[in-house]
Amino acid sequence: MEGIANSRWLLTLCVPFSPLPQAWRAAMPRVVPFYAVKCNPEPGILKLLNALGAGFDCACKGELDMMLRMGVSPNRIIFAHPCKRASDIRYAREHNVQYTTFDTVSELHKIAQMNPDFKCVLRIRADDPDARVPLGLKYGAEVSEADVLLRTAKELGLQVVGVSFHVGSACQNLSTFSGAIVNARKVFDEAGALGFNMELLDIGGGFTGHFDEMGNVMFGVIANTINAALATNFPPEMGVRVIAEPGRYFAETSSTLLTPVYGQRDRVAADGSVKKDYWLTDGLYGSFNCILYDGQNPGYKVVRSPLMADSTDSRTFLSTLWGPTCDSADCVYKDVTLPVLRNGDWLMWNNAGAYTVAGACDFNGIEFTTPGKLYVWSDSAVDAAEEGADEQVMNA
Ligand SMILES: Cc1ncc(COP(=O)(O)O)c(C=O)c1O
Repeated sequence: MEGIANSRWLLTLCVPFSPLPQAWRAAMPRVVPFYAVKCNPEPGILKLLNALGAGFDCACKGELDMMLRMGVSPNRIIFAHPCKRASDIRYAREHNVQYTTFDTVSELHKIAQMNPDFKCVLRIRADDPDARVPLGLKYGAEVSEADVLLRTAKELGLQVVGVSFHVGSACQNLSTFSGAIVNARKVFDEAGALGFNMELLDIGGGFTGHFDEMGNVMFGVIANTINAALATNFPPEMGVRVIAEPGRYFAETSSTLLTPVYGQRDRVAADGSVKKDYWLTDGLYGSFNCILYDGQNPGYKVVRSPLMADSTDSRTFLSTLWGPTCDSADCVYKDVTLPVLRNGDWLMWNNAGAYTVAGACDFNGIEFTTPGKLYVWSDSAVDAAEEGADEQVMNA
C-alpha cells in the first residue's frame, strides 16, 4: 500500500480498454487504425495494439525506432509528419518505412533529395473549429493548393499515393469528417488526372474513446457519418485502402491517475472565511500538462486513504490544488469545492491516458515522466493477444 500511496498512476488496460479495438472494427470495418504513438507511448498500450494487429502513426525517428524495435513491420507504420527533420527521413529510409505525409513544396524538395522512394500522402486541411485542439493552422494544405503540390511532385518524379487529413483532436462536428472526405476525393481525382496511382485514404485522428453509462463507446454516430461518406466518395470498388490515426480513442480511457495529497495549508481571509491549499504529487509539468496543451479539464474523485480511519469531517471548502514544483504557476485547479482532505488521501482522475504523461517533463528534478504504474490486464485482452487475433480484430 505504501508503494501505491507514493505513486501517481494506475494503468487499467482492462475493462475500458479491451473492448475498444473490437468496437472500432464493428463500427468502421473498412478503416484500419494506425495508433498515434505520440498520444501515449506506454509500452502496455503499444504491445496490446500491436498484438491486435493495429498499425502505428509515428512522427519522428524516436517513435519509428520504438515501434520497429517492438517488431512492428515497416508496412504497418505511417510516418505521419508533414514536415520531417532530415535525420528522421534518413532513419525512415534506412529502415524501409515507406509511407509519409507532406503539405508543402519545401517538403517535396526535401523528400526528392533524401528519399525519392517515399510513398507520399498529401495532407489536406480539414479542421473542425470546435475541436479541442484544432491543427489546421499549422498542418494541412488547402484544397486549392493541391494542384501546385501535385504538379511539383510530378516534376520531381515523386510518387503521390494518397490523401490524409486530421479534423483536430476531440472533434465535435460530424460534418467536418464528411466534408474532409469529399475534399479528399476531389484531390484523388486531381492526382489521378495527373497520372498518380492513388491507393490510400488516411482519415487521421480526432475520435474520443469515452463510454456512456451503459459502457458503449460514444463514437458510433461519427462512425456512421464516416461510413456513409466513404460509401459515397470512396466506394469499395475503387480499391482504396482506408486507414485512420486515432490516438485519444485508444489511450484516453486506458489510464487512471492517482495523486496523493502530501501537504496543505489553511488561508484565513479578512472576513474569517477559510480557503484551503493542497499539494499533489503531480502537476502542470507532469501529466496535467494536458490542461495547458490539450485543453483538458480533467475530472476527479476523492479516494480516502485506506491507511487512515474514516474521515468524520463533513465540511467543504474552496480549495486550490497545487503541483509539486516550486513554480507558483504549477496550479492544477484554483478555488474548487472539496471536502476536507488529509495528507495521504488521494484524488483519482479517470480517463487520464491521452496527452498526459506523454507530454510530461522532469522539471525541478521530479520524476513526472516515470510515474509508478500498476497494470491491470483483462482476460479478454489477453485472449485476443494470445489468439493472434490480428486479422480478425483489426484488419478489414
Ligand atoms: C498527425 C496526427 N495524427 C494523429 C493524431 C492523433 O489525434 P487524436 O488523438 O485526436 O486521435 C495527431 C494528434 O495531434 C496528429 O497530429
